[in-house]
Amino acid sequence: MIDEINHQPRMGVEIAGISFNNPVLGASGTFGYGLEFADLIDLNRLGGFATKGLSARPLSGNPPPRIVETHGGMLNAIGLQNIGARAFIQEKLPLLASYDTRVIANVFGYSDDEYIEAITILNDGDGIAAYELNISCPNVKEGGIVIGNSPVAAARLTEKAKRASNRPLIVKLSPNVTDIAQLARAIAEAGADCLSLINTIVGMSIDVNTRRPSLSYGTGGLSGPAIRPIAVRMVQEVARSVDVPLIGIGGITSATDALEFIIAGATAIQIGTANYYDPSVTMKVIDGLSTYCVSHHVSDINDLIRSLN
Ligand SMILES: Cc1cc2nc3c(=O)[nH]c(=O)nc-3n(C[C@H](O)[C@H](O)[C@H](O)COP(=O)(O)O)c2cc1C
Repeated sequence: MIDEINHQPRMGVEIAGISFNNPVLGASGTFGYGLEFADLIDLNRLGGFATKGLSARPLSGNPPPRIVETHGGMLNAIGLQNIGARAFIQEKLPLLASYDTRVIANVFGYSDDEYIEAITILNDGDGIAAYELNISCPNVKEGGIVIGNSPVAAARLTEKAKRASNRPLIVKLSPNVTDIAQLARAIAEAGADCLSLINTIVGMSIDVNTRRPSLSYGTGGLSGPAIRPIAVRMVQEVARSVDVPLIGIGGITSATDALEFIIAGATAIQIGTANYYDPSVTMKVIDGLSTYCVSHHVSDINDLIRSLN
């Protein structure tokens, strides 16, 4: 319903019982712990954000170089550097409490047990709206298989995480699979409340002078506008395969980009790499979505979700 007085469209969305001010969220790993953006944007206007991936214990990540620019994007191999779940609760959550924005704790581990350990620690933190499980992680106990590349391993972890968690569970899909719909179905059936997609696509860049990989780790995750069409296609495929709400991610830089994901099937979207070159991009996308709704006579942004003709 259009607001009678100022004719503003309704921008709020709901996922698994969580109300977001609007569908625009900051993506994990590009938005720090949210506080880094407090002086750059109005956090109270943001729908929410996903924290940098949190593990049970702090990690220092890979040695540099950890980031390299590519056409229309970048490759990163940060190695999941983070302050650890306990420090997040003690140092960051109390400061985040003064902002009206939803905090999603992105969680990872190098075995199922490590994921559960991180979730168990975070369960004691006040002000976390949901968990986002980053399953694009090698499982050391299973010889380094990436959990998110196997529907069986991903479903098993989802089930365990759902049992351990006292909050809604978002599972973030790896795009590095042959059949994203099959992966999505397995994870939804295992009890995920929401799916977010996509994480970065594995890529590589080589320095031809040294004939070494440009990144110290060798390969890295490709993000930015270059991956957007792949991400939109995957969101649309997953939307046709599961009923749980979706969060669309991948190369979003504008309201038009965000709308592609919403129309394809996403209830909300996350913006990652674009924050690096324009820290206020989230605010611009919020304004742009509102402008689109007004000019297209859409009174409620929810009417656009899964509206692909
Ligand atoms: C530097 C960097 C670090 C990231 N760290 C994480 C992370 O810790 N956990 C996670 O789930 N995704 C992480 N991501 C993936 C992003 O959240 C996002 O899924 C991906 O970059 C695609 O969106 P974009 O094209 O808007 O950046 C990271 C991405 C970048 C560029």
